[in-house]
Amino acid sequence: MNESSVLFSPFEIRGLSLKNRIVMVPMFVGYADGDGAVNELVLDHYREMAGSGVSMVVVENASVDPSGAGSPFILRVDEDRYIPGLAELAGAIRDQGSLAFLQINHAGRYAYMQERLAPSPFKTGKIVPKEMSHDEIQEIVLAFSEGARRVKEAGFDGVEIHGGTGYLIVQFLSPRTNQRLDLYGGTDENRMRFALQVTDAVMEAVGDDYPVGYRFLADEWLPDGLHPEETIPLARALEERDIAYLSVMAGTYDSFFLPEYLKEERSEGYMAHFAETIKKSVSKTPVIAAGRIQSPATAEKVIQQGQADLIGLARVLFADPLWPKKAKGQVAEPIVPCEPTCSLCMKRLGKGKPALCSQWDKERQDTFLRRIGEKEEE
Ligand SMILES: Cc1cc2nc3c(=O)[nH]c(=O)nc-3n(C[C@H](O)[C@H](O)[C@H](O)COP(=O)(O)O)c2cc1C
Repeated sequence: MNESSVLFSPFEIRGLSLKNRIVMVPMFVGYADGDGAVNELVLDHYREMAGSGVSMVVVENASVDPSGAGSPFILRVDEDRYIPGLAELAGAIRDQGSLAFLQINHAGRYAYMQERLAPSPFKTGKIVPKEMSHDEIQEIVLAFSEGARRVKEAGFDGVEIHGGTGYLIVQFLSPRTNQRLDLYGGTDENRMRFALQVTDAVMEAVGDDYPVGYRFLADEWLPDGLHPEETIPLARALEERDIAYLSVMAGTYDSFFLPEYLKEERSEGYMAHFAETIKKSVSKTPVIAAGRIQSPATAEKVIQQGQADLIGLARVLFADPLWPKKAKGQVAEPIVPCEPTCSLCMKRLGKGKPALCSQWDKERQDTFLRRIGEKEEE
């Protein structure tokens, strides 16, 4: 592959110029300190991701409300005091020649604390979350819009709403987890209301010219969960609102550990067909495909075959931050792949430890472990 590949052709999102088709999709790495602030570890990580040559970095999910954090080590956008740190982060990414977006989220029943909010009291592990009142729903809609305002004030090029991974927005969309009979449940239209109210409030807060992207769950990957037939109407409603892009994914924490998901998830480009389905259901909205797009040849094919406009890399870029340069022929070494049978990054995060990759060479792993205090100086 070389520079003339479609992968290195420019693209435009809502007036922003992307220098190529490769985007870092959000990946929570647990590097923030306990109060959700940006620190040197976060800055260095995103400097490296942005310096990889991708055209755009979407920073991992940041919590819009104290009740919405999926981990104590999640970034936060729920108070103005986080803006200076976030501004440094946006600057660090942009200085490397990449556009900077940040994803905003509420984890709902997947939040890490004991008392959790959700559309319905759907048991999650041992915890039964509290059914949200109308006032609480409006508070969280407001929290999303305030979070988006802070992202803009911090100097990011755009904001992404997290409508994936089974977090709060999906909990409202899915009839499995939303058993309400009021105006937020019962019918497809009612279950979409929260997602659209969040989107409208975010767009209103940041203004017409500011790009608002959306992480879009095409399929819950559960037999009784949402499938594209049910999610396509939301894609169309978001397009009507002029969403900047749809970054397509599938699966939730209820499916991620099922044997059939784990089997699929090991194959190259495992979510590209979902991106294609969503792309075909909208007329002009750019679509990002992600999911073990390991080889540049696969990435090129996904674009050439019209499955998506942009390629999203998460673990693939974490395993080899030289991926874009190697794909372009600027670095003449083979790409170090994300090992399909390994889940070290996820396992460490599950234990409250910062993510690292088993594919990094020993020296890099040791340096990282020393930096986070898990290994003694030799
Ligand atoms: C450790 C980890 C953390 C993730 N964090 C996020 C996140 O914060 N927001 C999000 O939308 N997706 C998140 N994802 C999903 C990724 O964006 C991506 O869709 C998925 O990992 C597939 O791409 P990949 O094979 O290149 O990793 C995460 C995935 C992993 C493995």
